[in-house]
Amino acid sequence: MVKIGNIELPEFPLLLAPMEDVSDPPFRAVCKQNGADLMYTEFISSEGLIRNAAKSLQKLDIFDFERPIGVQIFGSDIDSMRESAIISTSVNPDLIDINYGCPVKNVACKGAGAALLRDIPKMVLMTSEIVKSTHLPVTVKTRLGWDESTKNVEDVAERLQDVGIEAISIHGRTRKQMYKGDADWTLIAEIKNNPRIKIPVFGNGDISSPEKAVEYKNRYGVDGIMIGRAAIGHPWIFNEIKHFMKTGEHLAPPGIKERVDVTREHLEMSIKWKGMNLGIAEMKRHYANYFKGLPFFKDFRTKLVMSDNIDEIRAVLIAIEQEYSNTELV
Ligand SMILES: Cc1cc2nc3c(=O)[nH]c(=O)nc-3n(C[C@H](O)[C@H](O)[C@H](O)COP(=O)(O)O)c2cc1C
Repeated sequence: MVKIGNIELPEFPLLLAPMEDVSDPPFRAVCKQNGADLMYTEFISSEGLIRNAAKSLQKLDIFDFERPIGVQIFGSDIDSMRESAIISTSVNPDLIDINYGCPVKNVACKGAGAALLRDIPKMVLMTSEIVKSTHLPVTVKTRLGWDESTKNVEDVAERLQDVGIEAISIHGRTRKQMYKGDADWTLIAEIKNNPRIKIPVFGNGDISSPEKAVEYKNRYGVDGIMIGRAAIGHPWIFNEIKHFMKTGEHLAPPGIKERVDVTREHLEMSIKWKGMNLGIAEMKRHYANYFKGLPFFKDFRTKLVMSDNIDEIRAVLIAIEQEYSNTELV
């Protein structure tokens, strides 16, 4: 069993990665139902939180069925980060996660996210202040380093453990790589094998199939795996990996009924949480993912993304299920 503070996770937990504009409560709901063991909110701006920005506060919405759930915060100012950890703690998540990995310009170039990898003393102080500000376990998500010549995550892991973090997730790329090239997990394995490191180490980057999950588990010895992009349009990946790890066999791929059911669930939860108009609008980017690979799907997709009427959309989903009920899906 893997423990983060008092949170008990299964022996080899599968985590849903925090993803901006993706891992909101509706998406988390379908991932949870399909086997995600630990999930995080999208990253939330500490500056937004301390200024009561509606968009940031909405991201603090968490539901009991999601537990255990972590709130992820980012920022460059230590006082704002401490304060936002206190605000986040008040909504009673299971843990607080700090983002030290975001590579995008408007975050990293403002001194937040991966930028802290270039100022380790500040990162350590920030982390220590956050740990002191909350009774919840604090975890960190980061990258290998800023660039190829400064892969300092091992030092980072030791120093952040020393100031009290209770788990670390590492994306096997540098900031400079953004999402290019292949994720390299060798350094993640070194940290896991470092006798100084006692906290759980989760590997992240490019896990896209049950085979790869098993291969990376065995090769790199991590305590669990965090999955991001592969869950988009395919939340079944968590149970698929678990089943393959347990039995060595593949679960049958989701049929059209499962695909429509998950889409419907995601849509209905979107509407419930975001309201009718926004719920319908923001769901539009998910349809192509859920129905990837279906032959001659274009007309259905057009209908789904053109319509703003929930009854019409529900009817299209029923029609899709009927149309493809005899199609073999792989
Ligand atoms: C659309 C998108 C949004 C992301 N937003 C966040 C975020 O809010 N916080 C974070 O720590 N990482 C974020 N990431 C990075 C992912 O959590 C993850 O580290 C990365 O996608 C690599 O994992 P994967 O190969 O399994 O997708 C995001 C990635 C994507 C693709």
